[in-house]
Amino acid sequence: MRTQVAIIGAGPSGLLLSRLLHLSDIDAIVLERRDRAYVEGRIRAGVLEQGTVDLIHQAQAGANMDRNGLVHDGIELSVDGTRHRIDLRELTGGSTVMVYGQTEITKDLNRTHDEMGRGVVFDALDVSLHDIETDTPRVRYHKDGQQHEVVCDFIAGCDGFHGVCRKSIPDPILKTYEKVYPFAWLGILANTPPVSDEIVYARHDRGFALFSMRSKTVSRLYIQCRPDEDLEEWPDDRIWEELQIRLGGDCTNRLETGPSLEKSVTPMRSFVAEPMRHGRLFLAGDAAHIVPPTGAKGLNLAAADVRVLYDALTAFYRSADSGPLDRYSQSCLKRIWKAQRFSWWMTSLLHNFPDASAFDLNIQRAELDYLIGSRAAKTTLAENYVGLPFE
Ligand code: APR
Ligand code: PHB
Repeated sequence: MRTQVAIIGAGPSGLLLSRLLHLSDIDAIVLERRDRAYVEGRIRAGVLEQGTVDLIHQAQAGANMDRNGLVHDGIELSVDGTRHRIDLRELTGGSTVMVYGQTEITKDLNRTHDEMGRGVVFDALDVSLHDIETDTPRVRYHKDGQQHEVVCDFIAGCDGFHGVCRKSIPDPILKTYEKVYPFAWLGILANTPPVSDEIVYARHDRGFALFSMRSKTVSRLYIQCRPDEDLEEWPDDRIWEELQIRLGGDCTNRLETGPSLEKSVTPMRSFVAEPMRHGRLFLAGDAAHIVPPTGAKGLNLAAADVRVLYDALTAFYRSADSGPLDRYSQSCLKRIWKAQRFSWWMTSLLHNFPDASAFDLNIQRAELDYLIGSRAAKTTLAENYVGLPFE
C-alpha cells in the first residue's frame, strides 16, 4: 500500500501525530507491535504542561481531559517531613499544569481513530525499515501470518526506547548519551482519596517518595527502591508504611491505605539520541530520548516533538517547504537538553544516592535549603516544571 507518512508505534507520540495529520488531510498509517488492550493498559505518568494540553485540543481529543483533568496551581516539596509549597501560578505569572493520566490520553486518542474510521494496525510484527535515505522509504511488517509493505514519503519513528527505528540509523551517524541512576521507583495505583490537593515530592533519609493522583478518588504513589527490587518483597502494607514515613508531616495521618490496583518498578535513566532525523526517518518521543520521571517531562517532550514534526510535515505538503523538516532535529534537541537538565537536577536533588559521600549529602541539603528560601530558585523550578517556552 501507499501512504504519505508511516508511523511506527501507537503510544502517545504516534497516536497524536496520526490524529493531527488526519485533521490536515495528510494520509498516515500507524503500525503497532502490541494489541490495543496492552497499549491502553500501560500506567504511566500524568502531568501535562500547557503546551501539551494545547496540542491535545488541537488534535480535537481533549473532551475527557477537560472533564476529568485536574488543574494544579502548585506542587509541594517535603523535606524530612516539612512541606514547602511551590506556587507555580504565582511564580510563573499564570502558568499551571494539568494532572491527567497518560493511559487516558492513549484511550482518548485511540477513540478518535475509531471515529475517523482509520484504525491503528495493532499486532503488526517484525516491522523493518528500508530505503530510508531515498525519497520513497518502505516499511515491511507481518500481520496474521502475511507480509505487508507500505511505501511512503516519510517514516515517523514513534516506537519508544526499545523500538526498531532508532536502530535503523547507521552507527557512525547516531550518537547517544546516557546516564543510568542507581535506583528505581516502585509505583502503585490505589483507590484511595488524595492525601493532598497537590503533588508532593518528598526527600527523606530512607529515600525519595512521591504522592500524585488520577482523580478525587484514585491516588498514584511512588517510593525510591533498588533497580533490581523484587516486587514479592513489597506487599501493599509495607509500601503504605514506607510512604507514611517518607511523606511525613500531616500526610502520615491523612494517608488512607487500600489494595493496590497496579504495582510496578520503573528504572531511571537519562538518554538522548542525536540526530533525530536520518534521511526520511524522523524519531519522536521515547524513541529519541528518555528522562527520569522526577520532573514528569516524558510525555511532554514527546508531545513537543510531535508538534514540531507535524508543523514541519504540514509545511512540506502545503508549501513544498522542506526547511522545517531539515531543522527538525536541531529545533527539538535544544529544548530536550534543557528538560534533560531539569529532570536530572530534580532527580539529584531529591533521591538518596547509595554512593553519596558526606560532602555530597551536605551539598544536597544546602541546595534544598537554598531552593526553599529563595524566590529566584523557586521561580527557576516553577518555570521549568510548567514547561519552557518554544522558540
Ligand atoms: N514495531 C511497532 N511498534 C513498536 C515497536 C516495533 N518494533 N517497538 C515498540 N513499538 C510500540 C510500543 O509497543 C509502544 O506502544 O511503540 C509504542 C511506543 O510508545 P511509548 O513507549 O509510549 O513512547 P511514546 O509514544 O514516545 O510516548 C512517550 O510515553 O513511555 C512514556 O514516559 C514516556 O511519557 C512518555 C511517553
Ligand atoms: C504521576 O502522576 O504518575 C507522576 C507525577 C509526577 C511525576 C511523575 C509521575 O514527576
